Amino acid sequence: MLASKTASLILNFKTIQWVGESPGFVRMVEQTLLPQEFIEVDIRTVEEMVDAIYRLAVRGAPAIGVAAAYGVLLGVQDCQRLSSDSLISTLDEVCSKLAAARPTAVNLFWALDRMQNRAQRDFEAGLETEALLEALQQEARSIFDSDVDTCRRMGEYGAELIKNGQTILTHCNAGALATAGCGTALAPIYQAHADGKRVAVWADETRPLLQGARLTSWELLQAGIEVTLITDNTAGSALRAGRIDCIFVGSDRIARNGDVCNKIGTYPLAVLAREHKVPFYVVAPLSTFDPNILEGADIPIEERNESEVAEIGGQRVAPEGVSVYNPAFDVTPAHLVAAIVTEHGVIENPNLSKVEAVLRSAGRIE
Ligand code: MRU
Repeated sequence: MLASKTASLILNFKTIQWVGESPGFVRMVEQTLLPQEFIEVDIRTVEEMVDAIYRLAVRGAPAIGVAAAYGVLLGVQDCQRLSSDSLISTLDEVCSKLAAARPTAVNLFWALDRMQNRAQRDFEAGLETEALLEALQQEARSIFDSDVDTCRRMGEYGAELIKNGQTILTHCNAGALATAGCGTALAPIYQAHADGKRVAVWADETRPLLQGARLTSWELLQAGIEVTLITDNTAGSALRAGRIDCIFVGSDRIARNGDVCNKIGTYPLAVLAREHKVPFYVVAPLSTFDPNILEGADIPIEERNESEVAEIGGQRVAPEGVSVYNPAFDVTPAHLVAAIVTEHGVIENPNLSKVEAVLRSAGRIE
């Protein structure tokens, strides 16, 4: 598919990158400080990477996958003197630590599996430690590079769903800050803009951690795209008033039947979209699909600290002693989803057989 200009040209920051060869380190945008401060932090150990993922310095499913792959490199790069057996055991320990960082975004586990499978395959083929370390570097680089390319392809497919002059509602941040490339849900918007279409975005603030207010509105402004910030509570009346033409969101895990897990507050948007006959689109790479989970109810939902709800910007807003329920994600049933845009094309009205067909053709299932 030919695009007049690719979306990646619009953005001028790197969410996450590997610096140096081996030994090297990870440099990432410290997302907890945006938009007040744009600071990059250097991550040099597995423990620092686990902490960065948990506290959302790096966040968004595909970026978490890349961070996990780089976290593996940090954990094994000093192992040159170990036997290949010991390297494989160290790799297992490193992967277990990284896997505990956050439970919902399946890209984390997908990337760790890729790193482990690569090392195991090459180990069984008789490669020694140095060659195994080189193979792991290649695998991590490939995870990063393919994410950049995947975002571009999702952008091209998704842009075809956007008409000139449309206003798009989005939730949380599923943009460049959530990937190594130009985003998932925001990629079609960047591509439509690059293609010369007039597009406007309405961004939900996304309580409790305000990824929409802090991150989505920041990166859209960087890219010169018109963005209007609303409280999460405003989406319903905006839809009812006919101010939104379509909704684009990302995902942290998609079940085999097409149920979509994404940031808490996504499900009510899908219900509202159905009521107001507005298409609800999900944009996600195949690395976000979990072939081992049949339906959304089985997706593990992260519950985070109560202070995220009881406080705003470090200021307590709820009385001491109140109980707080703080799930970070919810599940939207497949029947509310108009289409899932992937790097392999668009799955309209997703269901079990359509998702399985795409996963099969991409070699993710037999
Ligand atoms: O808790 P976060 O900020 O990691 O949640 C991120 C989201 O919910 C995104 O919508 C999702 O990861 C898709 S991002 C490309």
